[in-house]
Amino acid sequence: MDLLVIGDANPDVVIGPVDQPILFGQRERLVPTGSLVLGGSASIMACGAARLGLSVAFAGRVGDDPAGDFVRTSLADRGVNVDALVVDSSLPTPLTTILTSGNDRAILTSPGCLPSTTADDVPLDLVRSVRHVHAASFYLLPALAAGLAGIFKEAKAAKATTSLDPNDDPTGRWDRSILDPVLRVTDYFLPNAAEVLALTGHHQVEDAAGILARRGPLVVVKNGVDGAIAHTGSKVVTAPALKVDTIDAVGAGDSFDAGWVAAVLNGSRPGRALAIAAACGSLSTRAAGGTAAQPNWNEAIEGMTP
Ligand SMILES: Nc1ncnc2c1ncn2[C@@H]1O[C@H](COP(=O)(O)OP(=O)(O)O)[C@@H](O)[C@H]1O
Ligand SMILES: [Mg+2]
Repeated sequence: MDLLVIGDANPDVVIGPVDQPILFGQRERLVPTGSLVLGGSASIMACGAARLGLSVAFAGRVGDDPAGDFVRTSLADRGVNVDALVVDSSLPTPLTTILTSGNDRAILTSPGCLPSTTADDVPLDLVRSVRHVHAASFYLLPALAAGLAGIFKEAKAAKATTSLDPNDDPTGRWDRSILDPVLRVTDYFLPNAAEVLALTGHHQVEDAAGILARRGPLVVVKNGVDGAIAHTGSKVVTAPALKVDTIDAVGAGDSFDAGWVAAVLNGSRPGRALAIAAACGSLSTRAAGGTAAQPNWNEAIEGMTP
């Protein structure tokens, strides 16, 4: 296996575009499109990496329910190994509804079995056998987060590289005391602009990335239509987003993460890896949901801005 992805997996119901404020009072309103697709930052990243040609295993939890079956089948259909996908006997599969509006979206998640996901769900022999370990949705998985530094240490002891996408913190606390020990064993930290600012309390993305880069990792910040930057601690490189016909940006950051990991595993330096990752994020926005328009390696290379 090239890659082990650890984290969240759920069905996404993507509905929109919503062009007016949401109303309660049992009013029904029609929107042009809706789709049921595979969601969860980790599982979208896993599918993106498989599409780019990596051999990928997924570790995480689903409930013993139709939503869990949907997740398992969707991952397996895209070539992701699901032997380490644990079935939780007491809690349901997480469910997410995404309301899209232009480049923005509102996300409602019932976490179900996410909080009961722990480091013990992740087989250590798998951690020790892959070239790279990626984890996502740090603040949605508090029990796993507490054990993530230990997993990453195992990976690094076995000469694998590591990456982390924090994603949003629904509590708004952005607790650094649990994150910083993980950053010390993270090769690539992959937040978006809002996340890196929230984590540092800074107002400027490059400064914020620099602060976290001094904690150890190379920090790669995704910034929607503005593209992305990578901060090595001493050097900053940038890449633009591609101009594409965007349907929605659900999973763009996760598809970007897949592009970054595939590129560095293929030997690319930060500048080129960033351009490939940005292309993967942009191309993924051409269809509804996270995985439908993810590019293969040739499409990513042809699409990237040199
Ligand atoms: N509307 C868009 N048009 C073109 N590219 C986009 C668009 N939204 C995102 N991207 C690409 O996807 C990458 C990741 O998207 P972003 O929205 O910043 O991440 P996240 O989903 O984590 O918030 C961006 O760096 C950019 O390359
Ligand atoms: Mg994200």
